[in-house]
Amino acid sequence: MANAKNKALWHGRFTHAPSSELMDFTASIDIDRRLAPEDIEGSRAHVRMLGKTKILDGKEVAAILAALDTAQAEIEAETFVWFESDEDIHTAIERRVTEIAGAAGAKIHTGRSRNDQVATDLHLWFRRAARAAIIATHELQKTLLDQAQKAGDEIYLPGYTHLQRAQPVLLAHHLLAHYWALARDVDRWRDALDRADVSPLGAGALAGSSLPLDPKFTADALGFSRVFENSLDAVSDRDFVAEGLFVAALEQVHLSRIGEEIVLWSSAEFGFLDLAETHSTGSSMLPHKKNPDIAELVRGKSGRLIGNLTGFLATLKALPLAYNRDLQEDKEPIFDALDTLISSLGALSGLISASTFNAESMRAGADSPENSATDLAEYLVRAQVPFRDAHAQVGALVNESIEKGITLREVVANTKGFGPDAVALLDKGVAVTNRHSPGGAGPEPVAQQMVLAQQHRAHLTKWLSD
Ligand code: ARG
Repeated sequence: MANAKNKALWHGRFTHAPSSELMDFTASIDIDRRLAPEDIEGSRAHVRMLGKTKILDGKEVAAILAALDTAQAEIEAETFVWFESDEDIHTAIERRVTEIAGAAGAKIHTGRSRNDQVATDLHLWFRRAARAAIIATHELQKTLLDQAQKAGDEIYLPGYTHLQRAQPVLLAHHLLAHYWALARDVDRWRDALDRADVSPLGAGALAGSSLPLDPKFTADALGFSRVFENSLDAVSDRDFVAEGLFVAALEQVHLSRIGEEIVLWSSAEFGFLDLAETHSTGSSMLPHKKNPDIAELVRGKSGRLIGNLTGFLATLKALPLAYNRDLQEDKEPIFDALDTLISSLGALSGLISASTFNAESMRAGADSPENSATDLAEYLVRAQVPFRDAHAQVGALVNESIEKGITLREVVANTKGFGPDAVALLDKGVAVTNRHSPGGAGPEPVAQQMVLAQQHRAHLTKWLSD
C-alpha cells in the first residue's frame, strides 16, 4: 500500500488533517474493496447520465469512462496502488479516476453522494450473490435428486418422530423432503431479489439534488426495474440486506438439519451411511477414526448466520433517517453470510454425492414389525372398527409382545379377528409399499413426487438460463 497522503474526499471544510485513530477506526476499505466491480459499474451509469442530462459534456464523460476502464483493469491485474488515505472503495476509485482524468475526473461525483453510491453498489452485489446462492442450491438439489433416483424403490429406512422409529419410508422420500425445503429457499431468494430490484442512485446524500439528474436513466443502465420513490428511504433502506441475512440463515439452518442427519447416519449406532474417504477426516490421536467434519461444520456455521442476522437487525434498530455511519456495518455480515452459505452448499453437495447409503442397515431398522403397528390399526379400521378402539387394541398387542418377549407377528397370528392378511402386513418390506396416500412415503406417491421435483428443477434451470 502506498503511503501517499491524499486528502479525504471531504477535506474542504477542515483545517486539520484527520487523526490516525479516526482513519483506522472508520475506514472500511478492507471490507468494501470487493465492491470494486459494482462501484465501477455504478459510476459508469452515473457518468453516462451526467452526459445525457448535459451536466457534463461529451469529452468529460469519455475521459471519465476511460479512466474507469483503466482503474478496473488495474484492479483486475492487481496493479492498482491503494493509498492509506483510501477510506473506502468509493474514495479509492474516485482518487484514481481524478489522477488519470484530471479536472474531468474531479467531476465524477457530481450530483452523487457516497450514501446513494454505496447503497447502489450493495444492491448490485446482492443481485449477483443471491443468484450465486440460487445456483449453488440448484446444484445441491440435483445431488439430492440423483441420490433419490439411485435409491429408487429399493432402499427404505425407518422414518422417525421424536427420533423414535415410527413408520418405514423410502430413502428417496427422505431425500426429497430436503429437496423441497431447498426449493422454498430458492423461492425466498427470488422474492428477495424482486424486492431489491430498485436503484437508489440519484437520491444524493439524502434529499436528491438541485441538478437535473435522471435516476430512471441510471436505473435502466444498471438493469434495475424500479427507481426509488423517496430519497430518504433510498439511502437508509437496508431491508434487502436484512432479508438476505434471513434467507441465508434459514437456508443454513436447513443445511444444518441435513448435516445433523449425516452425522447421525454415519455413526456406528445408525450405520445408515458410509462416508467417502475423500470427504471425511481422520483423527490426530485415534487411528481408527473417520469423521464427518463437513457435515459438522455445515451444522456449526448455522450459528454464524443466525448471529449475522440478529446482529444486523440490532444495528438497524432505532436508526433515525436517513444515512448513518452505522450502516457501514451492513457489509461484513452479508458478505460472510453469502460466502458461508455458498461454500456450505458446495461442500455438502460433494459430501452427499460421494456417500454410500447402507441399504441393509436401513432395512434392518425399518423391518421391525412394530413399525407396521399403524397399518394393523388401519386393517381394523377397514373392518369398521373406530380408529380409537383399533389404536387401543393394537397397542395392547404391542404390550403383550413386550411382556411375553415374543414378536408382534406371533402375537397377531394368535389373536382372533386378525387373518393371515393382517399377519402379512408385518412381513419384511411390506409396510413401506402400503404408504399409498398422496405425498406419502411409498413407491407410487414417491414416483409422482419425483416427476414433480424434476419438473420443478427444470423450471429453475430455465429461469437461470434466461
Ligand atoms: N463506507 C461507507 C459505508 O459503507 C460509505 C458511505 C459513507 N458515507 C458517509 N456519509 N460517510 O456506508
